[in-house]
Amino acid sequence: MARAGAAVRGELRLMLSLRVLPARVARFCWRARRSGDRFSLDSAARPPELAELLALAGDRTTVVELGTGTAWSAIAMALDRRARRVISYDPCVRLERDAYLELAGAGAGVRERIELREESDSAGPRAGDPPPALLFIDSPHDRESVLTAFNAWRDVLALEAIVVFHGYGHPGYPGVSEAVSELRLSGRETGGLFVRWAP
Ligand SMILES: C[S@@+](CC[C@H](N)C(=O)[O-])C[C@H]1O[C@@H](n2cnc3c(N)ncnc32)[C@H](O)[C@@H]1O
Repeated sequence: MARAGAAVRGELRLMLSLRVLPARVARFCWRARRSGDRFSLDSAARPPELAELLALAGDRTTVVELGTGTAWSAIAMALDRRARRVISYDPCVRLERDAYLELAGAGAGVRERIELREESDSAGPRAGDPPPALLFIDSPHDRESVLTAFNAWRDVLALEAIVVFHGYGHPGYPGVSEAVSELRLSGRETGGLFVRWAP
């Protein structure tokens, strides 16, 4: 009985936390989060961060994500705008991704609009790639890695591009703030993310 009550409270908490997200994204997150997949729950952007990321993305259609994980954020970004294409980099391929891509549903053409590359964040674009209008840095959060990732992409961004750093101000990831101040980026912190507006 007590266990059932706790489960109901958990579901309610989850439902409330997803209210900040656009309906299509919330629907996906609801189903994905209820899978109980610990790696994804621990590693993917939390609903408030995701809401902030989507608000920042606005109508930007060319997105590069560094650090795919199980593709929850890539899927959310693709679900949020039908014209958006996401290229996501991660040298570590997680097999769970396929199930989540399926969960996102075929209707929105999400699978076709997400390209997963088994490559490092420092690989940079391939010939013919459009310049990213949004770069989301969510690969390793230590100072050296963040610096390397940013520097690999800084010269290939679209004119009005924004760069969003995950983990900024988080006590567990001091390297992100260190890298941002070392790079002397102008921008602001918002909801656990640092956003650098076009230079
Ligand atoms: C925090 S998780 C990404 C979560 C994902 N962005 C999301 O919100 O669903 C960090 C990911 O960075 C990946 N990673 C580790 N080294 C990397 C590298 N050199 N380049 C790109 N990704 C890397 C890890 O394999 C891990 O999946």
